[in-house]
Amino acid sequence: MTRIASRVSQLNGEGALAVYSRAKQLERAGRSVIHLELGEPDFHPAAPTVDSLRNAVAAGRDRYCATRGLPALREAIAAYLKRTRRLDVAAEQVLVAPGCKMALSLAMMALIEPGDEVLFPDPGFPIYPSFTRGLGATAVPFGLEEKNQLQPDLDQIAAKITPRTSVIIFNSPNNPTGTVFSARALEKIAEVARKHDLWVISDEIYARILFAGEYQSIRGLPGMAERTVIIDGFSKSFAMTGWRLGYAVAPVHVIDAMDLLVLNTFTCTAEFTQMGAIEALRDSTGAVEAMVEEYRKRRELFVAGLNRIPGFRCQAPQGAFYAWVNIEETGLSAEEVQAILLEEGGVAGIAGAAFGPGGKNYLRFSLVSARNLLEDALERMQRVSLHWRAAVSQQ
Ligand SMILES: Cc1ncc(COP(=O)(O)O)c(C=O)c1O
Repeated sequence: MTRIASRVSQLNGEGALAVYSRAKQLERAGRSVIHLELGEPDFHPAAPTVDSLRNAVAAGRDRYCATRGLPALREAIAAYLKRTRRLDVAAEQVLVAPGCKMALSLAMMALIEPGDEVLFPDPGFPIYPSFTRGLGATAVPFGLEEKNQLQPDLDQIAAKITPRTSVIIFNSPNNPTGTVFSARALEKIAEVARKHDLWVISDEIYARILFAGEYQSIRGLPGMAERTVIIDGFSKSFAMTGWRLGYAVAPVHVIDAMDLLVLNTFTCTAEFTQMGAIEALRDSTGAVEAMVEEYRKRRELFVAGLNRIPGFRCQAPQGAFYAWVNIEETGLSAEEVQAILLEEGGVAGIAGAAFGPGGKNYLRFSLVSARNLLEDALERMQRVSLHWRAAVSQQ
């Protein structure tokens, strides 16, 4: 019997895609749907970035190229991290990959052994536990709970370390909660990592989408450059999701290991997209700042509106572009609220369990639609909240 390798059965999909296909089905049947389910910016890359890619293709930059990425892009990433995160990174500590997910999976393949234990946030990006299990390791969640302002419970993290723990993965700003890990949380996680000789995989894909303060990377803390792998890329900060461009920053021996994995799998990232990425990092039109300003306005409008809907409670996200809404007081499950919003209201959001058991009483909405659409979505939600208003008023 031909069979599929058992590691595949350990993987899970992503909840957003299931909601998206149902929403598309409704649209095909003539219904109007406001899409707040996917984490895909409604912006497009800045014009000079697109021009640069076009020129690169015209100039024949469409051949195989360096496995770990174009030297010029790796240099540009190092300079960008200095400029935006005050990190001292050498170009040889950077590896370019087709998307953050690919950079993440290469890092995980390079660092995780079967039987290892890997700590990850719950709620969090569903690929962390999925790919951990796919590598034959055990995924160990740590909570991001409202009682701790959605910050990690540092005692819980310390208590979950065993001799098998090898990696802590986290994402700040976090998808789906919008939490920016506090300076204290980063210091404590770094302390635990140093004490137990652990790797930290710091997914910084939303680092630029920050609503207050300056981004602090755990890699900048004492003793952390040699045990941290940063994952970042172009999908969110530069609205380049479909270009498939990400990168990892890690000690050179980790980059060497990841490079061998690249050679054994996809050979290299497309050269012309990398040429565009160099231009994106230059950001000559100030596109990132303008985009973040627009997310800020959407956040203000949408979070205030959500908190006016009976049974909904939402803290303003500190970063990323998601609203994480507690729906416990509706008396319904998040899946029921998700279905009512989509089927009757024409608003697509995702029930939080898609991001782990810690998301059970939540819904995630992406702020990736224009403000007039967000206003429309709020009106629709108010309308269908009739379904649970009686339950809320009894409380
Ligand atoms: C936390 C996090 N990491 C990684 C990714 C994947 O990024 P990319 O599209 O560049 O592979 C996403 C996308 O939603 C994300 O939210």
